[in-house]
Amino acid sequence: MMFRVRRFSRLSWKRIFLFGSAFVLFWIFVFSLTPITSPLPAYTGPHQVGVLDVEVEGQKRLIHDAVLKETGDKAFELSTLAVTLYYPAALPPPSSSRRQPEARPWLPQPLSLIGTGYARLVHVYFPPFQKVFTFALWLLGSKTTIPGQVDAPILSGAAKLLIDESGDVDGLEKILKYAEKESLGDVQQMELRGEEDADEVGLFPFVVFTHGMAGMSQSYSHYLGSIASHGYVVAAVEHRDGSGPGTIVHYPEGGEKKVWHMELGDLDSSPPLNELDLKAIQLAFREAEIQETIRLFKLLNAGHGDLMRNLKPDSPRTALPSFKNRLNMSAVTVAGHSYGATGAMQALKNAPRDTMPINGGIALDPGKESGPLNADIDIPLLVMQSGQWTEKQTQFYDQGWHFDVVRRIVGGVKEGWFMTLAGSAHPSCTDAPLIVPWIMRLATGTTLDAKVALKEYIDVSVAFLEYLREGEKAGVLGGGVTSEKGPLGDKEERGKVEGRFGAEWEVHVVP
Ligand SMILES: *[C@@H]1O[C@H](CO)[C@@H](O)[C@H](O)[C@H]1NC(C)=O
Repeated sequence: MMFRVRRFSRLSWKRIFLFGSAFVLFWIFVFSLTPITSPLPAYTGPHQVGVLDVEVEGQKRLIHDAVLKETGDKAFELSTLAVTLYYPAALPPPSSSRRQPEARPWLPQPLSLIGTGYARLVHVYFPPFQKVFTFALWLLGSKTTIPGQVDAPILSGAAKLLIDESGDVDGLEKILKYAEKESLGDVQQMELRGEEDADEVGLFPFVVFTHGMAGMSQSYSHYLGSIASHGYVVAAVEHRDGSGPGTIVHYPEGGEKKVWHMELGDLDSSPPLNELDLKAIQLAFREAEIQETIRLFKLLNAGHGDLMRNLKPDSPRTALPSFKNRLNMSAVTVAGHSYGATGAMQALKNAPRDTMPINGGIALDPGKESGPLNADIDIPLLVMQSGQWTEKQTQFYDQGWHFDVVRRIVGGVKEGWFMTLAGSAHPSCTDAPLIVPWIMRLATGTTLDAKVALKEYIDVSVAFLEYLREGEKAGVLGGGVTSEKGPLGDKEERGKVEGRFGAEWEVHVVP
């Protein structure tokens, strides 16, 4: 008896020790499997994606003569244009690994500029506290890279056709097999062979994207890179209108200028500006930058990439000449999020015209406080709102509820769509919920998975871009209205339709 008890107790100590360490190991395992930050997923389309930061000399112009109190410099002088390009890229040689090369760091450089910018945005001016912002950014973002090959040559017409015909993500595999079978050894050879006859049909439409308040050009890399992977050249503008956290203008003649976030109190002007004036000036600035982006594409398409200098420090430029004769200059779409959506809708005013040869617009969560929305739109428009943006209604510049104003505007457009992605939040189209999913879910209360939300946004955006090309309405775009009055109508009347990835769309306006 004694013996048995002693044996048992010895065993139980052993057991506690065993279970204890298993418990600890289990939690270490769980935490290592679900870290705070996640890598960005692969793009959704069949093409490889090239990524390139470009800053080029623009046509100097003064948008408004207000000056900065801090420096006395002109606050709204446009001199250079900075964009991040996402574009379908030539394939790596068949021998190389199939994994998408991870290329550009997600955080822009210099990081301290962005950290300090965000600190200033929330009125923190004490340098050691500003450093905490930089550190937090580094902690959350330093491991993240934007998938894609930096400075890869743009895809040739021949290769584009092959991939388009194979139709899906297996395209790459088929091409590689084809290349092997034909023993071309090098895909470039295959491209050369098809170049003459295929280029005509393989031109890329392009999309100019404008970011939201406090956003940056790379905050939307997954959304934009995915659109590029479906066969579009995308330029995300890094706006210098004082809406972002911070950006540096690099002058062609040498020297640089830091542009911080600007508020009314930072500016001197006579007569003094009010909030609406500032919004109008910033939107005019953005419109000028969109024009500059279209001009840049015209120059690239005309073959001037050869002579172009990339003013972005440490950014290459060898891909630029490859854009010669690759762009469809009559297929320019403007897209934007939040403040950028207001800007995109503004840019559609009187389009298409010479300086704005735009064929359509995509507005994600058009701003609620970014100034009144332009209603003078004669070309196709797609407005997608997050669940959060639609549910939370506020009065909009004495024009009624925001939802109603948007619905009226889109309803007045001949080819207009207005829909809401249920369960998503305002930042759902950005990279943030992909990089820090736990934090963003807690902060925004989304019920829809972040990856699914982005897939849906990308799918409907690409369907809209295809519609502009082919005139065919696919997926949700092809259906009818399911919920005319949205949050303003009866709950029972709010119908939903399932998107391609299982999420629910509430459709408010269709053409
Ligand atoms: C260029 O875009 C327009 C408008 O989408 C389209 O009608 C035309 O076929 C395109 N041209 C080429 C060569 O891709």
